[in-house]
Amino acid sequence: MRLGARSLCPPGAAAGRPGEPGYAVAVRRYHVTTFGCQMNAHDSERIKGLLEELGLGEAAAPDEADVLVFNTCTIREKPDQRLAAHLAQAKALKDRDRERVIAVGGCYAEAQRERIFERYPFVDVAFGPGSIAHLRDWLGAGGLGVARGRFGTAEERRFAAALPLRRERPFQAWVQVSMGCNSVCSYCIVPAVRGRETSRPPGEIVAEVKRHARDGVREVTLLGQNVNSYGRDLAPTIRTGFAELLRACDAVEGIERIRFTSPHPKDFRPDVIDAMAECRAVCEHAHLPLQSGSTRILKRMRRTYGREGYVRLAAKLRDAVPDLALTTDVIAGFPGETEADFQETLEVVEEVGFDGAFTFVYSPRAGTEAAAMPDQVPEDVKRERIERLIDLVQRVAARRNDARVGRVEEVLVEGASRTDPSLLRGRTRRNTTVNFSGDAPPGALVPVLVEAATSTTLRGTQTVLAPV
Ligand code: 5AD
Ligand code: SF4
Repeated sequence: MRLGARSLCPPGAAAGRPGEPGYAVAVRRYHVTTFGCQMNAHDSERIKGLLEELGLGEAAAPDEADVLVFNTCTIREKPDQRLAAHLAQAKALKDRDRERVIAVGGCYAEAQRERIFERYPFVDVAFGPGSIAHLRDWLGAGGLGVARGRFGTAEERRFAAALPLRRERPFQAWVQVSMGCNSVCSYCIVPAVRGRETSRPPGEIVAEVKRHARDGVREVTLLGQNVNSYGRDLAPTIRTGFAELLRACDAVEGIERIRFTSPHPKDFRPDVIDAMAECRAVCEHAHLPLQSGSTRILKRMRRTYGREGYVRLAAKLRDAVPDLALTTDVIAGFPGETEADFQETLEVVEEVGFDGAFTFVYSPRAGTEAAAMPDQVPEDVKRERIERLIDLVQRVAARRNDARVGRVEEVLVEGASRTDPSLLRGRTRRNTTVNFSGDAPPGALVPVLVEAATSTTLRGTQTVLAPV
């Protein structure tokens, strides 16, 4: 049921006529489209929680929704283009029903600020990653009022952790440990859109983990742009490092698995490696972004480690944590990258033996240092390099996964397999997806014998019936 237009405005927003600033509309159902990283996926859980607290229900599809939210990413050009296509569809929906509200949040919105209203005049409200709470004011109680053309500014950046949460899975949870990033990677737009690093007080984080555990969560993923610089900005009275935080989360009863993403190689200290090795719940997996295997390029990227340092760190991690899975991010075609530099990247991929990698074509982002570098790599060279990189990554990962065949791995069941509904799907502690035959319900931890492997998944059979 639609409520029809009603004036229920947030304080300060004047009621007006349709199309005028401050016009108030009635809204009942929402749809959130999420782009980008896990941090954004988690922010979307907060956006949904907040909209539900306002009395809105979730719509199955955008065309059934009164409030359309796009939680955007701007890390590369591709998500920008995908957003443009989505917004074109949203505009068509709004043309059919003027009462629809279109809200754009996240990193692209923060990068564009008020320009978003010029570029997309049909967008009603926009907010950055730190100002989700403003949706509450803009949409008003019951989701009935909306003040148009407002932007949540960076000065108001706040942790979304205090907001209500609509978790996607009852047994898994993301927990934000910090926001923002103090690194100055020359290719990256994130520091500009998410601001300087701010750590959440450790007590709050552990309390949230405990709450999740009481609610039946078995796996938590600690999220931050650079998790292992966590805590450096905290007041001396509560100063806690990432290693201590891992240990505190490990002590929470009921939490069987702890993951974290992403660490920066430059800040991966021995105490964190020790905590990984010693904490029962911390999973045998590290996502350790390499970006390039060439020390020369790493310097231009301002990563503050070189090829040798990275390889040494990977070896240290593998020594300390037997059976560790290592995944990474790699960029092909950074400005000034020569064929010899790229060869070094291929060598490191082979030498470290990654279990998986996200591979990216370098994409210049306006305002970043690298975008202004004169020696940009031609598009066709970037394309050709990424193809070779993907090919190698797949071969190496297939080899690593093949080595799991014949082993029994602990799997956290997520549900039915996406490709074959007669099978179940879950993840190993090493974060590999497994499709397997078995009887376990979602959320169960079961042993699975690995029988086959591809570069990205394992296939197997549950060896023990699920506990009843
Ligand atoms: N171009 C290509 N890839 C990028 N990444 C970040 N910025 C860019 C860019 N401008 C990649 C990095 C990072 C991942 C999240 O996205 O590899 O680790
Ligand atoms: Fe995540 Fe970066 Fe994209 Fe923002 S720009 S959503 S931080 S990947």
